[in-house]
Amino acid sequence: MCGIVGLIGNKDAAPLLVDALRRLEYRGYDSAGLATLVNGSIERRRAEGKIVNLDACTRAQPIGGTVGIAHTRWATHGVPVERNAHPHTDGRVAVVHNGIIENFAELRAEMEAQGRVFQSDTDSEVVVHLISSYWTDECGPVEAVKKALARLEGAFALGIIFAGEHDLMIGARLGSPLAIGYGDGEMFLGSDAMALAPMTNRLSYLEEGDWAVLRRGGVEIFDRAGQPVQRPVQVSALSAAVIGKGGFRHFMLKEIYEQPQVLGDTLHSMFNPVERTLTLPEIPFDLSAVKRVTIVACGTSFYAGSVARYWFESLARVPVDIDVASEFRYREPVMEPGGLALFISQSGETADTLAALRYCKAQGQHIVSLVNVTESSMARESDAILQTLAGPEIGVASTKAFTTQLMVLACFAVALGRARGVLSAAEEDRLSAALVEVPARASEVLNHDERIREIAEEVMHARDVLYLGRGSSYPIALEGALKLKEISYIHAEGYAAGEMKHGPIALIDEKVPVVVIAPHDSLFEKTASNVQEVVARGGKVVFFSDEHGVKKMGQNAVFTISLPTVDPFVAPILYAIPVQLLAYHIAVLKGTDVDQPRNLAKSVTVE
Ligand code: F6R
Repeated sequence: MCGIVGLIGNKDAAPLLVDALRRLEYRGYDSAGLATLVNGSIERRRAEGKIVNLDACTRAQPIGGTVGIAHTRWATHGVPVERNAHPHTDGRVAVVHNGIIENFAELRAEMEAQGRVFQSDTDSEVVVHLISSYWTDECGPVEAVKKALARLEGAFALGIIFAGEHDLMIGARLGSPLAIGYGDGEMFLGSDAMALAPMTNRLSYLEEGDWAVLRRGGVEIFDRAGQPVQRPVQVSALSAAVIGKGGFRHFMLKEIYEQPQVLGDTLHSMFNPVERTLTLPEIPFDLSAVKRVTIVACGTSFYAGSVARYWFESLARVPVDIDVASEFRYREPVMEPGGLALFISQSGETADTLAALRYCKAQGQHIVSLVNVTESSMARESDAILQTLAGPEIGVASTKAFTTQLMVLACFAVALGRARGVLSAAEEDRLSAALVEVPARASEVLNHDERIREIAEEVMHARDVLYLGRGSSYPIALEGALKLKEISYIHAEGYAAGEMKHGPIALIDEKVPVVVIAPHDSLFEKTASNVQEVVARGGKVVFFSDEHGVKKMGQNAVFTISLPTVDPFVAPILYAIPVQLLAYHIAVLKGTDVDQPRNLAKSVTVE
């Protein structure tokens, strides 16, 4: 995590850097800082907490300069105080860093033995001292960086400026993303295209091991071996305008309300409404020959994959393995070459998922990534890309990225079923018709917003909340619990409804709300029995179902929401929305920071 940005140009750097950091704040908000060159000297401003504090600091103590680097931090090594905020500097070299330097302890000992004094507890500061120690009369700053990079182990995106060097900024990447932005007589560095959106839309993405020497007139890029390389310049479609709240109180609410639109956009990128056929993006291998699918992801994306497992197995009759990325590699899974490995990630940068992708590549798997950011590392390292057209998701809690992931995965399940000769034309028609209905039904779900807010007024007082679901509703229960805990800080757990009686039922009393995700599908009666078990023990049930379900079971629940009746195939996509709204309203009522919950960051680029 952490976001970095740098610019070398002719305009006052500090306001531009602070503005760019605001667009990177989703990557972390423990502290922020910037450094510029003023009359050849490195000047720095840093502040604990969010960018707003750095902004106030730079207004109170203005800082000039037209060359600068800036950083917003998600703390890894060292508590989030100003002393540990980036940029780090020894007065000669200033560095911003995203990632983790794994061999920092030994490098720090080496530097301290040379008499160098460290001011922070971070792993990052070692980069400053390493470069500074190599920068001598005989060895210039560019050569010094090259030598230092060769010593670093771990993951990094770096931005570096040098005292007395007005026309020089260096960027480097290994494991953490970094883009170069091209302007007229000015150049930029940024963790992503969004950071640079108002300044330039012409970008090159550094590859693993690349480092770049930026001067006002242009950039030279070198690969890991120090050989000059060209990286294509792409035009980003992102505009700074799309990044506002559009009249909503929070980004999260705006993104929840965007779902009918982005679900439609995502579906239409794969579905031909005239011929009523699904067409996937080009897949450079034979889908019909796939014998096993392995899905790897983290957090909410993992829950999207967990729903997909039900779809892939039932509709395409293909065996599916699924694991959270942070555990996947450590199992050292045995993989038959020729399998399909599917990585799901909004950001396309999650370090654990990326590491799993590389593991699967080495195991001879076909690599497919489902991402929201097509310029991301995962997309660039995959054989095929599936894309969610969710647009930028700024709220740290994933909402529209999740439901659009489900939409793509549903389409992929149908395509896989067809390719494997498992689905009949009639079944495919039925499933396609169900998918086409989703955007309109999603709008209807949003009509329950006010009622869900009223339910939130009751649930907000709970200390613990349980979520139950069965079949493809089970991952939605898990997602509901994750949403609630991450933004409202209420303890919540999701369980397979049938597992209740194997332990969690001991928790049930009148103080524990139990949110039940129960579309009226073939599993409904079994879930209904589990609801009875909860009610018999005094549990307060919040029941999300449809007309039939509410008619049968509604009298047992304290609160019911009757969602549109849809084909059970697409129910997980729609039932995700009320659990998002419930978490949102509880968080707002509790007064937490909905868009930037404590301790979290949007893009998790450390393992
Ligand atoms: C929760 C949430 C996280 C992410 C997870 C993976 O609301 O957003 O659990 O889903 O960090 O991130 P991506 O999808 O970018 O790999």
